[in-house]
Amino acid sequence: AAQPGSATPSFGFRELSSTPTDRAEVASGHAAEVLIRWGDPVLADAPAFAPTAQTGPAQARQFGYNNDYLGYFPLPGAANPSRHGLLCVNHEYTNEELMFPGLGRQDAGGPLGRAKAFSGMTAGIVAVEMMAHGGSVLEVRREGDRWRVVQGSRYARRITAETPMAITGPAAGDPRMRTSADPQGRRVLGMLNNCAGGRTPWGTWLTCEENVNGYFTGRLPEGHRETANYRRMGIPGRWYNWGDHVDRFNVEKEPNEANRFGWVVEIDPFDPASTPKKRTALGRFKHEGAAGIVSRDGRYVLYSGDDERFDYVYRFVTAGRVSGDRARDADLLDSGTLFVARYNADGSGDWLPLVVGEGPLTSANGFHSQADVLIETRRAADLLGATRMDRPEDVEANPATDKVYVMLTNNSRRKAEEVDAANPRADNRFGHIVEMLPDGRDHAAPRFTWDILVRCGDPAVATVGATFNSRTSQDGWFGMPDNCAVDADGRLWVATDGNTPGRTGRNDGVWAMETEGEARGTSKLFFKCPFGAELCGPEFTPDGETFFVAIQHPGEADPEDASAAPATYENPSTRWPDFSPDMPPRPSIVAITRQGGGKVGS
Ligand code: FEO
Ligand code: CA
Ligand code: CA
Ligand code: CA
Repeated sequence: AAQPGSATPSFGFRELSSTPTDRAEVASGHAAEVLIRWGDPVLADAPAFAPTAQTGPAQARQFGYNNDYLGYFPLPGAANPSRHGLLCVNHEYTNEELMFPGLGRQDAGGPLGRAKAFSGMTAGIVAVEMMAHGGSVLEVRREGDRWRVVQGSRYARRITAETPMAITGPAAGDPRMRTSADPQGRRVLGMLNNCAGGRTPWGTWLTCEENVNGYFTGRLPEGHRETANYRRMGIPGRWYNWGDHVDRFNVEKEPNEANRFGWVVEIDPFDPASTPKKRTALGRFKHEGAAGIVSRDGRYVLYSGDDERFDYVYRFVTAGRVSGDRARDADLLDSGTLFVARYNADGSGDWLPLVVGEGPLTSANGFHSQADVLIETRRAADLLGATRMDRPEDVEANPATDKVYVMLTNNSRRKAEEVDAANPRADNRFGHIVEMLPDGRDHAAPRFTWDILVRCGDPAVATVGATFNSRTSQDGWFGMPDNCAVDADGRLWVATDGNTPGRTGRNDGVWAMETEGEARGTSKLFFKCPFGAELCGPEFTPDGETFFVAIQHPGEADPEDASAAPATYENPSTRWPDFSPDMPPRPSIVAITRQGGGKVGS
């Protein structure tokens, strides 16, 4: 591992060409093998995937759609912890136009600009959608040079939009969390739109609910208590019509149900019978992820972006310390303090605590309890004067340097009069990466310093204002950073969402990013997605010899290509990974290894 403050080891691989293609490609000297695809069996009794006759009960046993976060947990007692473990997978959302035959293209809607707003979907399709959401726990094993999913594993689990979950922490039991099905406000069915996540030192999976607004329909009763709250969260978003078939997704029929989504969920992957827990102390917003690090005095610190234009970066600090005893640490995330970031123009920054009764967070502003502050985290952060960011996605700390990387994916709505030091470009179509360093290298410190690592986009176009190191090649730059990973040697890897041939002349992929020394700000293309796909879930095994990536929604159309036919089940932009005429494109996990052994990317 790198010494603190020293240059991190750089990347030795030969860069890929950025020419977009219909398949996945990895830098030479590496192998990239598909591990599991949408519809493959997860539970032992899963039926074979039949895309033209898919059902809810089948989907509930098979690998879900749109794999996002990946968390690798070595199995205790494994002969080699980097060759045998559990892989926890988020299934963020569904693309009906690519999943089901005969739907054709629906109107594009929703803030993601993807084909959404499906009205008139049948109950059968809604059942498949609900079972294709959530997560999967897979036992995975490397044998020789190949990874495979262990069939019939006792750890195998599917989490869906109907899995019973506990609500814990300060908002549990609050009247605003109660519904007709749950008069105690302590039990909810399912998790939705789980994007990125994290792994805790005590061996649990954190999975983060992001765009939960899209699942609700209906209209709140006039003058309802949640009116301002739901407006701030964009509820109801009406991207899916589940509310036509399941009452709790209609806010008219069940006005409080939407308060029970938008949380970080903690799951014990080693016990398939365990109840997932929605940890309300971490706040309710569009959580991108929750990556953590232990503070100097042993408390656990979680960083989390709120992925919306002009929303915020948060940090949670536990009250208790990590003991190393799994049972004692199990509920650490129920007590602690949530903070929101303010980035000052002089390069300093402050963590502002979200605590009821402090500053403006009083009854006069509608905050009567800590539950109120947590249920309406965004509105509380507005009052504190947090810095409005360009869509905060993944936030990851580098244990080798204690620097924290914030992926700000883009914000084309920022106007010239709205730029600030931390969000310096109007019409920020390509995003940027902010680097933070906590004072005293202590992640629980109240203040930090910050800098911009890189402004993304094509460096050859002066008006874009990109700031990649001049060593970066024409293949090496990217736009729209989304996920990131720090490997065992403290090297930063950036995954993207939104590069298309029409926008940037390349597909999404993984770029290796230098962060220290003279090469700082240089990036190199390591892996590229097939057409239409976004790169999610970058995750290394502890030995750095395997790099898992999740390929989400292959086959979408390029929104910038007016001549392209609409992407549908019958006519996707690629049929990766099967390339079979009777098989749609399938979101899949890919395991990347170095041919002949050794660390990936060296
Ligand atoms: Fe689900 Fe912010 O990406
Ligand atoms: Ca993301
Ligand atoms: Ca990450
Ligand atoms: Ca994304």
